[in-house]
Amino acid sequence: MAYSVRSPLAKDHVDYISTLLVLTTVGEVLADQFGQMIEFWNSNSHSYCPRVVVDENDTVVATGTLLIEHKVIHECGKVGHIEDIAVAKSHQGRKLGDFLIKSLTLLAKEHNCYKVILDCAPGNVGFYEKCGYSVAGTEMEYRF
Ligand code: ACO
Repeated sequence: MAYSVRSPLAKDHVDYISTLLVLTTVGEVLADQFGQMIEFWNSNSHSYCPRVVVDENDTVVATGTLLIEHKVIHECGKVGHIEDIAVAKSHQGRKLGDFLIKSLTLLAKEHNCYKVILDCAPGNVGFYEKCGYSVAGTEMEYRF
């Protein structure tokens, strides 16, 4: 099967959300809300770089976002954050996750980020190591 990477479109609403369900709960997101989110991402493309992997029918089968943080340190450097990586169950194990992470990492390089970081569950460390990432630091959170 042939796959490609592109930016998400409003028409991806249903497939985008069903793909994300392998990652976490999504809740109700109406088509209008999804369309507004796409517009927000597009109008803030210096910081939000969402991408989807689509199959040969242009159906979304994987999602992921590169969030670019504009900092003061490192001479007003930029850090890439990889977020919300999800590969639809029926497409897992076909190197799509690897393809997506490598695409987002390259995108961060093209945006002159000096590093890319992400948080993941311990069970996914091996996957990210295979994508070239290494364990660094400890994740902390404060939940509301
Ligand atoms: N642990 C160790 N190795 C793994 C894992 C894992 N959990 N998952 C895949 N691999 C290995 C594969 O065996 C493969 O190894 P190989 O090159 O030696 O054959 C390599 O990593 C690449 O695997 P892919 O086929 O690219 O993996 P896939 O497309 O299935 O995507 C992913 C992996 C993204 C973890 C997928 O299983 C998924 O969507 N899981 C549920 C959602 C999730 O946990 N997402 C990550 C959240 S973290 C974040 O968003 C920053």
